Amino acid sequence: MRHKVDFLVIGSGIAGLSFALKAANYGKVGMITKSKIDDTATKYAQGGVAAVIYSPDTYEKHIRDTMIAGDELSNPKIVDITIRESTARVLELVEWGVNFDKTDSGKYALAKEGGHSEFRVLHHKDITGAEIEQKLILAAKRNKNITILENCLAIDIITQHHLGVEVSRKTPDIRCFGAYVYNPNNKKVETVLSKVTMMATGGIGTVYGHTTNPNIATGDGIAMVYRAKGTVEGMEFVQFHPTTLYNPKETPSFLITEAMRGAGAILKDRNGDEFMSKYDARGALAPRDIVARAIDNELKISGSDFVYLDATALPKDVIFSHFPNIYAKCLSIGIDIMRDMIPVVPAAHYSCGGIKTDEWGESSIQHLFASGECASTGLHGANRLASNSLLEALVFSHRASLKAVEDIKKIDFCDEIPEWDTEGTVLNEEMVLITQTKKELQTIMSNYVGIVRSNLRLQRAFDRLEILYGETEELYKKSILFPEICELRNMINVGYLIIKNAMDRKESRGLHYSLDYPEHRDVSQVTRDML
Ligand code: FAD
Ligand code: SIN
Repeated sequence: MRHKVDFLVIGSGIAGLSFALKAANYGKVGMITKSKIDDTATKYAQGGVAAVIYSPDTYEKHIRDTMIAGDELSNPKIVDITIRESTARVLELVEWGVNFDKTDSGKYALAKEGGHSEFRVLHHKDITGAEIEQKLILAAKRNKNITILENCLAIDIITQHHLGVEVSRKTPDIRCFGAYVYNPNNKKVETVLSKVTMMATGGIGTVYGHTTNPNIATGDGIAMVYRAKGTVEGMEFVQFHPTTLYNPKETPSFLITEAMRGAGAILKDRNGDEFMSKYDARGALAPRDIVARAIDNELKISGSDFVYLDATALPKDVIFSHFPNIYAKCLSIGIDIMRDMIPVVPAAHYSCGGIKTDEWGESSIQHLFASGECASTGLHGANRLASNSLLEALVFSHRASLKAVEDIKKIDFCDEIPEWDTEGTVLNEEMVLITQTKKELQTIMSNYVGIVRSNLRLQRAFDRLEILYGETEELYKKSILFPEICELRNMINVGYLIIKNAMDRKESRGLHYSLDYPEHRDVSQVTRDML
């Protein structure tokens, strides 16, 4: 079975939906999403969207904060583009129906988070992502040019490799003709041909044992592009959010937004003593890499499983108006945040690296764009500034749409693409092989490739992963396809990329900290070595 669409969008979070809504003015959009339409990281975003709205904030200040957080590895041109387009993009969200909180005087109520020198985070209580996701879905469902297929998993992008042409990482003109997609209704892999494809598959958090990310975050887009010999970069920069609720049995880990620290909540050790001022003059509002490492260090010294976030001094009306979801969640497990300190622990949260894209969101593969968390635009460098990711998705989905609508005028469908080859495969009856390997992968990544790394830990992770890789590839080749094996394969692929990039970086920078190379290196030397 084959389908044809002008624009194939893989993923229904902020990146996919905002691109689709724009592209739909110029052609037919087919959006596929591997779970329910709102099963996205976007839905879970709490803090909000960073954008320059009122003075005394300025583009220059936001640019500077982003560059400082990125620890000298952000691309200045991309930072400039993103921040200067921030105001227009968030106002567009408002046009799509998104409600951001306002003060009594009718101005937007802006929050502050770690690394921001000004109040600039637009939010909808502490459920900003749910508000955005819901309004974008409504707009997409109303649009006659957008067809949405839920529970359909993209397995691989289609390139000339599928026409029997050899492709390597050095091939300059790899082209994307669409994707092979698993349809659960007939349990078949179908061919979706497109003129342009937008990869918007989100993050990689589930590669780790503890993560704020929903189950869909298995790094599929990154793995697909890597397999197709596209360029993937910066995977060593995995951001651990410093404050997730310590509630060991809960998956994903529940986030306690950084905006709470912005409002005055303080990090304390098990004796109730403030500790962040020992690590950084900015205290609990230092950039995330610093706060997460400080907490990791406190936990190692004390042997505790968590530290505390003390929000008891926050006024009641602030809790009820800005943090009602966190208040209710904590209360549901017996913690009244107006009286009790909140036990918190870091968890894997965000991938700064991903599919390398240019200033128009285009990847190294022709006709393939990427936006949102699966992309590496160069904005975040070695560490993302809080609330810059929803913004990044909006800016680059917009820019990609401008380029893509021009491109489709010159592109034809490639009708010679063959159907998916299922020869020699049998039904795999042993799900335990998948679930167990996934657990092993998460244990390896959490223990050896977490907040603090070393040569020995990375080597051990690499060796263990090689075994899992071999076993899983073997199983994949023999199995009739089903989503779980595809996702596991992608997770192993992503784990490999994180380890490999971490091994290659012989220094500590931003989110990557190595006990063997604790120093920063000269940036020009680092760049030369990586070329
Ligand atoms: P997602 O929203 O994750 O969407 C990915 C989509 O791709 C999903 O629809 C998924 O089903 C689909 N998909 C994946 N693989 C496939 C496949 N193989 N085939 C078909 N479909 C597929 N950022 C901020 O800027 N501000 C915040 O306040 C903030 N808070 C956050 C709080 C939490 C708890 C989390 C987890 C993240 C937060 N972030 C925040 C980060 C931000 O939410 C994400 O980076 C952003 O939403 C990613 O959007 P996306 O569209 O790239 O991906
Ligand atoms: C948060 O609300 O702390 C998360 C913000 C983000 O990840 O950008």
